[in-house]
Amino acid sequence: MKAVVPGSFDPITHGHLDVISRAAAIFDSVIVAVGVNSSKSYLFDFGERLDLVRQACSDLRGVTAEPLDGLLVDFCTAHGATAIVKGARGSTDFDYEVGMARMNHALTGVETVVLPASTQWSYVSSTLVRQIASLGGDVTAFVPDVVIERLERKVQP
Ligand code: PNS
Repeated sequence: MKAVVPGSFDPITHGHLDVISRAAAIFDSVIVAVGVNSSKSYLFDFGERLDLVRQACSDLRGVTAEPLDGLLVDFCTAHGATAIVKGARGSTDFDYEVGMARMNHALTGVETVVLPASTQWSYVSSTLVRQIASLGGDVTAFVPDVVIERLERKVQP
């Protein structure tokens, strides 16, 4: 079975990589779908976010990354994926995911698997990483090395 792990990944963190690698251990193959949430503004542009996801996942067997343009359910159908995998750090994330899972299931029948974030990464978010980095803080513990290099260029012109 094939699964899709969708997100903005602005930027990809160790929390995301934990969910992606756990999804890869459950499913035969995983496509990381890098999309645009119209209610968010991004630090990294679409190409940069996709490129960073591809580099960060290059050592994960069975994992590829593709651009998501349009409805997630249509992406799943087009790629032959029968499940969506999302991570949830807590009850706020979970409630948000349940609403989308129900809607996506109503649209095409695609199932959603919500994985509880590993304790180690449960406090890590892209939002906090961006904020800390932009104020000169050290985020090396929370993101892969490829992200560190790009973040330094982005926040220290
Ligand atoms: O959690 P994120 O990072 O904001 O997710 C971004 C993304 C692109 C994965 C999300 O906005 C999405 O699924 N967009 C696709 C549009 C869609 O299918 N909307 C209906 C959801 S029920």
